[in-house]
Amino acid sequence: MDARKLNETAQSMVAGDKGLLAMDESTPTANKRFAAAGIPQNEETRRAYRDMIVTAPGLGDCLNGAILVDETIHQKTTAGVSFAQALAKVGIIPGIKVDAGAKPMAAHPDEKITHGLDGLRERLAEYAALGARFAKWRAVITFGDRIPSDACIDANALILALYAALCQEAGLVPIVEPEVLMDGDHTMERCAEVTERTQHALFAQLVAQGVLLEGIILKPNMVVPGLKCPHQNTNEEIADATVQCLLRTVPAAVPGVTFLSGGQSGELASARLSAMNARFKGRMPWALAFSFARAIQEPAMQIWHGEDANVPAAQKALVHRARCNVAARRGEYTSAMEKQ
Ligand code: 13P
Repeated sequence: MDARKLNETAQSMVAGDKGLLAMDESTPTANKRFAAAGIPQNEETRRAYRDMIVTAPGLGDCLNGAILVDETIHQKTTAGVSFAQALAKVGIIPGIKVDAGAKPMAAHPDEKITHGLDGLRERLAEYAALGARFAKWRAVITFGDRIPSDACIDANALILALYAALCQEAGLVPIVEPEVLMDGDHTMERCAEVTERTQHALFAQLVAQGVLLEGIILKPNMVVPGLKCPHQNTNEEIADATVQCLLRTVPAAVPGVTFLSGGQSGELASARLSAMNARFKGRMPWALAFSFARAIQEPAMQIWHGEDANVPAAQKALVHRARCNVAARRGEYTSAMEKQ
């Protein structure tokens, strides 16, 4: 393990005011989103859509890195270069999602365990040869009657740590993503309790498995009330609860925290990230950035609609959302930016 190189890569993933873009939807998820937007669902439309993303003018000013998926890292852009090369050319570090998805957990109804450790060492070597410099693995924690269980939280934490150790052995920075879902009617306080429990378990396992904390990125959920909770908190309350949870659980050695958006609107995700950076400026030991998928891509996907003629307008919408999040990193996002 090259500790210096891993730390340098992790630092560059959260450098300045920029963030990460998750463009690593699995084929079923990408198809589901295309179907909802009325876009044909096949390998070529997925390639063309992602070509629209990586060739968007100005994207490199907003992103340090982008997360690809197995299909895309093996495809070429319309200009005939690999997606990893196209990203690297505009200063965006290519990464790769390496988990095989969250599947139902045996003996634990309604809970999930993430698969994909089998053959991971070999796949990581292949992805590194294809140009990836970091990886991502997502675990899913679900709310419900008497869940999440300790069994689910602990098993996912162990698997995340085993994945992270393999990544570092291969010279790739692991993004560790324990996503506590927004689905449910639970309160923000309950989300805080479960997120804290999840992240404590995760860091205990990362340490136990010998993972270099200076060479990882944490990708957590924000601490928010469930989508069906009757009481929806203010952005300031969410910012305070989220940063308090991170301060209690994330060691100062970790270079950066990059949030998932989890189904929040683009505007809310930007506003809440901005509130955190504004209210805790100078009081956080790690960079607080973004690694959104839906909160950056959604408007662009609707505008693109599978048609070449819509590419420039879709690219504008994509870069606009990315710029809003760059402002949020500085704590300077305002809703007035949406009218620009
Ligand atoms: P969302 O921002 O759409 O939640 O996706 C982030 C991600 O990468 C989930 O693994």
